Amino acid sequence: AQKVTQAQPVMLVQEKGAVTLECTDSTVDPSYSLLWYKQPSSGAMIFLIRQDSYSQQNATDGQYSLNFQKTRKSIQLVISASELEDSSVYFCALREAK
Ligand SMILES: *[C@@H]1O[C@H](CO)[C@@H](O)[C@H](O)[C@H]1NC(C)=O
Repeated sequence: AQKVTQAQPVMLVQEKGAVTLECTDSTVDPSYSLLWYKQPSSGAMIFLIRQDSYSQQNATDGQYSLNFQKTRKSIQLVISASELEDSSVYFCALREAK
C-alpha cells in the first residue's frame, strides 16, 4: 500500500547548475524514511541521502540537500554544483520504520 510517485521526466541542466527532483509519498504511517538513490548507466544502485519522517531538520550531505514537507508528503532532492557525473537516473524510495 505504500507508494512513492516521481512525476519528473528528463531534466537538462548546465554544469555547475542546481537540479531539483521531487517525490511524493502516500504513506499513512507516521514513521518512515525516504531514501534517494542514483543509478548511473553502469547499473549500480548508489545510495545518496535519507530523510527520517520524525526529523525536525532537512537532511543534507555535501552536494545533496533535501526539502522535506511532511504535511504535503513531498520531498525534493536538490543537487547543487552539478557535474557530468551527476547524469543519472534518480530513484526515491520509502521505507517504513519497524
Ligand atoms: C525543510 O526546509 C523547508 C524550507 O525551508 C521547510 O519549509 C521545511 O519545514 C523543512 N523541513 C524540515 C523537516 O525541517
